[in-house]
Amino acid sequence: MLAEKYADRIAKIFAKYPDKRSGVMALLYLAQEEYGWVTPEALKEVAALCDIDPTQVQSIAGFYTMYSEQPKGKYWLQVCTDLPCALRGADEFYRQLCEYLGLSEEGGTTEDGLFTVEPVMCLAACDKAPMLQCNFHYHENLDMEKMKALIEQWRAEASRSDGDRG
Ligand code: FES
Repeated sequence: MLAEKYADRIAKIFAKYPDKRSGVMALLYLAQEEYGWVTPEALKEVAALCDIDPTQVQSIAGFYTMYSEQPKGKYWLQVCTDLPCALRGADEFYRQLCEYLGLSEEGGTTEDGLFTVEPVMCLAACDKAPMLQCNFHYHENLDMEKMKALIEQWRAEASRSDGDRG
């Protein structure tokens, strides 16, 4: 449960706002960090913490692309394919990335569950396209060579953390 595990962080979030309801987005981030995605249970937990109805929390989680209401791969790659980025080659970069990971052009999650790729709208780094955010960290001025190196780095990181657990 978020309330017990993150009591201090939650108290700090609420301390920033005069009204508990204003903490909903920060708490959704926390829930996603904890569970990997915004689970139905997480929606209820956040709603209870903010003292609002779960449907209100769900409408916020559903509106913003930074929240996922579906399970994602360990590395969640959100590629901006919006017009300014497309003019700098983001469409082709996205297509090549999907192909490299064996995904269709709709994106999706790789069979090993490591990578989820999806196109998103503007991430406010239009002059640095092609760009993506991976688990909320930006990677900019990409090409497939740089992308392949990042993918290898993440694969190695994932296999190290699997090894640590085994
Ligand atoms: S259009 Fe891609 S970051 Fe703005």
